[in-house]
Amino acid sequence: MTDRIVIARPDDWHVHLRDGAMLDAVAPYTARQFARAIVMPNLVPPVTTAAAASAYRDRIRKAAGPGFEPLMTVYLTDGIDPDELERGYAEGVWVAAKLYPAHATTNSAHGVTDIAKIKAGLARMQKIGMKLLIHGEVTDKAVDIFDREKTFIDRVMAPLRRDFPGLKIVFEHITTKEAAEFVLAQKADTAATITPHHLIIDRNSIFEGGVRPHLYCLPIAKRAIHRDALRKAATSGDARFFLGTDTAPHTVETKEAACGCAGIFNAPAALEAYVQVFDEEKALDKFEAFASLNGPAFYGLPVNKEKIALSRAANAIPDRVAAAGTGVVAFLGGKTIPWRFDGPV
Ligand code: DOR
Ligand code: ZN
Repeated sequence: MTDRIVIARPDDWHVHLRDGAMLDAVAPYTARQFARAIVMPNLVPPVTTAAAASAYRDRIRKAAGPGFEPLMTVYLTDGIDPDELERGYAEGVWVAAKLYPAHATTNSAHGVTDIAKIKAGLARMQKIGMKLLIHGEVTDKAVDIFDREKTFIDRVMAPLRRDFPGLKIVFEHITTKEAAEFVLAQKADTAATITPHHLIIDRNSIFEGGVRPHLYCLPIAKRAIHRDALRKAATSGDARFFLGTDTAPHTVETKEAACGCAGIFNAPAALEAYVQVFDEEKALDKFEAFASLNGPAFYGLPVNKEKIALSRAANAIPDRVAAAGTGVVAFLGGKTIPWRFDGPV
């Protein structure tokens, strides 16, 4: 039995670090485990200019401390200017753009109402090699919440893939068998991130003994067959699947409410949660590819030189962490899990 693994330091290819007091509280958890992270731009107001992204990057660097590099993204709106996209990319302010269908999730009101409105921007991104990161859910209320990702593939993702064959696309936080199959049917220019929670919970978990608001996120967890398809994809070693936690902190008050926010805060034990899945799937030998190699290869960045270790050891996850004058409940909080992050070696 393998009791310790040493791998190149991982990166997190999808995080919500927020701003202000929440940023100060949560950034150290991500920086403790990851060398770099793709930072989501869904602030209020959203990050739509190079100046805003650059100022936000400075605030993140200050909150996270040395040794952590935030990789910024720009929030696509209907009115996005292709020249601004190119300027931010050429100046090294951002590496990618995030497409939120309008009203799909937290702070997405300014998102894209119709792909036709951003065609010029997408064409420019394809030309300059800037990546497109997609929240893949339709917002049509007539579509059942559990079918919104699958429907998005047919209505939006497949036509987009056809219309922009040279665009590098990340299908973010996939939650269905259909999404994994879609990615596998494309060439190397389509990849997907997979969260730890979608590898561990299924939709029943959200209702186990009562409503569990801290397991509510978007896209919502699906049936066990989908979770199992994601486990297979993540642990396959295929270069198109890589780590993206989608850690999304909300205060305990805004989660435990009549209309609770979507988002799971998994940064306190993200690597431990992932490695447990790889261990259960007897695929520890594939963990480094998923956590540390596939993401940099897709983004055209070097693999981190530093190494980190994880060991098999009982690890009690804190129930909640102090943040912004209140608390944020951690994924797996209050549980003892069988792996521990040992830090750099
Ligand atoms: O659950 C989610 N929370 N899904 C998202 O897409 C956004 C995120 C957030 O920002 O809270
Ligand atoms: Zn997200």
